[in-house]
Amino acid sequence: MTGSSGERSAEREIVRGKRLDVTIADVTGAYEGRIGALWEMLMGEQIHVGGEKETDFLAKLAGLNGNHHVLDVCCGLGGPARQLARIYGCRVTGLDATKRMVDEAVLRTERAGLGELVAFRLGNALDMPFQAGSFDLAWGQDAWCYVTDKARLVREAYRVVRPGGLIAFTDWIQAGTMADMEWTALNSFMIFPYMETIDGYVRVLEDTGFRVLMAEDLSEPFAGHCRLYQHKLRTELKGVITREYGAGLYRAAEEGLRGWVRAADERKVGRGRFIARKG
Ligand SMILES: C[S@@+](CC[C@H](N)C(=O)[O-])C[C@H]1O[C@@H](n2cnc3c(N)ncnc32)[C@H](O)[C@@H]1O
Repeated sequence: MTGSSGERSAEREIVRGKRLDVTIADVTGAYEGRIGALWEMLMGEQIHVGGEKETDFLAKLAGLNGNHHVLDVCCGLGGPARQLARIYGCRVTGLDATKRMVDEAVLRTERAGLGELVAFRLGNALDMPFQAGSFDLAWGQDAWCYVTDKARLVREAYRVVRPGGLIAFTDWIQAGTMADMEWTALNSFMIFPYMETIDGYVRVLEDTGFRVLMAEDLSEPFAGHCRLYQHKLRTELKGVITREYGAGLYRAAEEGLRGWVRAADERKVGRGRFIARKG
């Protein structure tokens, strides 16, 4: 038993040390263009697993209400921000590094008549343009996997949340070990510098000063979601993607997603849900 847990922690160190040479410019470049559009086609306006249902679930777990000011870190098109404001009556500020995403988020929020409660800022999650203690809750959904330094992001979240406030997020995670080639293929396809593990996130949260209330492994349902996205790509979206973006992009998406479905089925990749309290 001791031997196997020792092996596991050694594996974790290997996972934690590895990084792809991905920069924020690579990620924003992709979201400025057709990759961003493709993700919206595949997942909808809320670009995370589970859509509105998941947003509602996380909001309930975090106990959101109309007195809260939420910071949505890597907010994308602002779909979750609008849902939180509409249903829970809270104020939400969305932060995202891609101008096209922020512009779209602002436009869609104005159209929805939610401009009083929801605002957006262009900026980097690693250098949040907010004063200490500005928010009740730092929020994130399936986006921090793009961020090159998760520990620094969590430290920034800790700084901008008030004492007693929360951090609540889901993210794509590395769930098992794999050969270098597969690791590189999976992360490059998604433009992820690396993924955290569940234990890795717990450690990052605790090292920062958060008290972890929940660290849930959602890797099993994640595999089912990946298969659904693959089915949608192959059926509903094949024609439109090929027509609008070319057969090459369709083939790349098909191949990349096939690798993710396989890795998710083998529990090498997955997803986690985390809630922690400051102080
Ligand atoms: C999957 S999408 C949006 C997910 C969004 N949370 C949602 O549920 O709709 C990921 C977003 O993260 C943003 N992003 C990636 N790295 C970032 C960073 N370092 N700082 C701010 N935004 C970042 C991208 O611009 C993109 O809009």
